[in-house]
Amino acid sequence: MQGANFLKEHNAKHLWHPMAHPAESVANPPKIVCKGEGVYITDIDGQKRIDAVGGLWNVNLGYSCQPVKDAIAAQLETLPYYAMFRGTSTDAAIELSVKLRDFFAPDGLTRAFFTSGGSDSVEICLRLARQYHKIRGQGDRVKYLSLKKGYHGTHTGGAAVNGNSNFRRNYEPMLPGVSHIPAPYTYRNPFNETDPARLAQCCLAAMEDEIQFQGADTIAAFIMEPVLGAGGVIPPHESFVQGARALCDKYGILMITDEVITAFGRTGSWTGSRHFGIKPDLMATAKAITNGYFPFGAAMISEKVADAFESDKSALSVVFSGYTYSGHPTGAAAAIACLDETLRLNVADNAAARGAQLHDGLQAIAERHAIVGDCRGGHGLMNCLELVSDPENKTPLEKAKVAAVHEAVYEAGVMVRVSGNNMIMSQPLVISESETNDVLNAIDSGLAAGT
Ligand SMILES: Cc1ncc(COP(=O)(O)O)c(C=O)c1O
Repeated sequence: MQGANFLKEHNAKHLWHPMAHPAESVANPPKIVCKGEGVYITDIDGQKRIDAVGGLWNVNLGYSCQPVKDAIAAQLETLPYYAMFRGTSTDAAIELSVKLRDFFAPDGLTRAFFTSGGSDSVEICLRLARQYHKIRGQGDRVKYLSLKKGYHGTHTGGAAVNGNSNFRRNYEPMLPGVSHIPAPYTYRNPFNETDPARLAQCCLAAMEDEIQFQGADTIAAFIMEPVLGAGGVIPPHESFVQGARALCDKYGILMITDEVITAFGRTGSWTGSRHFGIKPDLMATAKAITNGYFPFGAAMISEKVADAFESDKSALSVVFSGYTYSGHPTGAAAAIACLDETLRLNVADNAAARGAQLHDGLQAIAERHAIVGDCRGGHGLMNCLELVSDPENKTPLEKAKVAAVHEAVYEAGVMVRVSGNNMIMSQPLVISESETNDVLNAIDSGLAAGT
């Protein structure tokens, strides 16, 4: 690898970064991360920091997970790649499908369709939902419902169901036939309602109203993240998730849970669906399926949906979707080892315990800093501080001040993620109690930079 001077000189000059302005990246070059160990990353200047972003919500087992590294190396030796298109399979993909069937059995999901990441998994779920209705003779069901503030990746379908205008505006017009329901976001909502249970009922009423307005028999699926992640960690009241499931059942709409973040333990439960006591018809997963060490994902399919496809012998049931890297054997081998480690370490329990510690600590910090308008979490290792300049009017903190807080927290020893005026935390699920205290202390001292 080239030396530090070379890397700094060329940083962001010949590559465009996702979710960033190319010119701004040149003006304010991104941090160059060179090493990862445990829950720590080390940058090009040798500064070691706790990675409270967990890669990008995906490095659940930290950076030193040897079994996953070994599995990747061994698979590269044996069979580095083979295709999964009709007619061939691989041992790793088959073994993984059995493991996933067992893991997701409590969610009622028994078939996997492999992808290269989260956006792919979302896209496959959206496509399969339409196809399911076509197979069943309800080809008019082509529309989708989703939540404002939701994030579902950046493919064309996923961007259309996204609920944040930043990810939509520059690419409009979006896919037609998508309606967005108000999110159960207590800090800001059109109902001026701060009580989570009452807000859940308002949002459900809006959802039912939209279903009736669109015509239930035109809607294929409703998609939601069990806890909204990139939109600023918005946990719904459980009655919202259960109520949405009930509305989907009432109107024959498929429910897709986008668990690209929440599958594999992050909420303190093994899946977000289980966390809220529902069973989805389809589930999008990716990220922690390989601990972020290999790009991979799985769209999981319920018995109900599988039955429709498998019992229909017509061409309508052919899955004309897939990727060169669907079921990539190296990714599948990584996922097998990752799932074994995830279960052996019982990371869901640690996510619950460390998540509670972090949330309690953040609430105390929020009391001390006027720039914290809202403190959200309470569901495992998904937490967020929403920063404001004027708590009374909830005015979002200016970009420059948010950047100053971000840098000050980094200087204090911790990498967090900022998105708009949200400071988001999604630590590896193996983080310890003392490392969690270090995260809290760095945030406490860093927030002073925003005032
Ligand atoms: C809930 C959710 N869905 C989909 C995606 C897209 O996944 P990917 O970036 O792997 O394409 C993300 C990524 O953060 C996500 O958080």
